[in-house]
Amino acid sequence: MDKRRREFETGRTCARAALGRLGRPSAPLLPGRHGEPRWPEGIVGSITHTRGYRGVGVSEAAHAAAIGIDAEPNQPVPGPLLHWVATPDERAEVDALLRASPGVRFDRLLLCAKEAVFKSWFTLTTRRLGFEDVAIELEPAPGSGTFTARLEDAHDRRARLRGRWLLAEGLLITAVVIAVEPSPPSAERLSSRALRH
Ligand SMILES: CC(C)(COP(=O)(O)OP(=O)(O)OC[C@H]1O[C@@H](n2cnc3c(N)ncnc32)[C@H](O)[C@@H]1OP(=O)(O)O)[C@@H](O)C(=O)NCCC(=O)NCCS
Repeated sequence: MDKRRREFETGRTCARAALGRLGRPSAPLLPGRHGEPRWPEGIVGSITHTRGYRGVGVSEAAHAAAIGIDAEPNQPVPGPLLHWVATPDERAEVDALLRASPGVRFDRLLLCAKEAVFKSWFTLTTRRLGFEDVAIELEPAPGSGTFTARLEDAHDRRARLRGRWLLAEGLLITAVVIAVEPSPPSAERLSSRALRH
């Protein structure tokens, strides 16, 4: 079996196990037109694979609007790719973080964070972000941390997303969960509130 087919199938095995933990029956998880996984009605989720690792995050759609996860080896971003992925400000931030904590490949973490943001935003909007559309601020702590992503998409929609990251067993793992927007109060509730005031 070739590598791509293996990672697709083992990723799907993890995804079905994750659905089982939510009490959902096994279901075919076909890819959408843009490669995104198509989850059963009422479920949001995300899949990642890298050498020796498969990861899946799933949630009931009532609890999360979108999820994006990504895993990368804790190794330098190859060649000149960082110049393509990161803005000058992000590169300066990465350089400073690498000097302070050389055990964490913050250059690779930046890429990993952008991929998680990409997947969550695509799930929410079906719009693709470019690397330049997202500015990441990494907030490190030993072996794990958080990050903030400020983004603007092709429809001029802006957002500030929060994510988490972890370094474990040589892998960097990032996750972004976009919260469900609270629904506006119904007209009925508004008028009863107005009556009480
Ligand atoms: C699609 C992409 C996000 C996948 O990330 P990756 O690090 O290369 O690979 P991963 O193994 O982590 O993820 C692959 C999984 O992502 C999921 N995926 C693919 N396209 C997706 C999309 N449009 N939206 C959400 N998830 C998607 C799939 O589940 C896929 O696994 P599967 O094919 O087995 O189902 C990446 O290849 C890509 O095209 N990125 C766009 C480039 C970019 O601009 N990124 C950042 C901008 S902020």
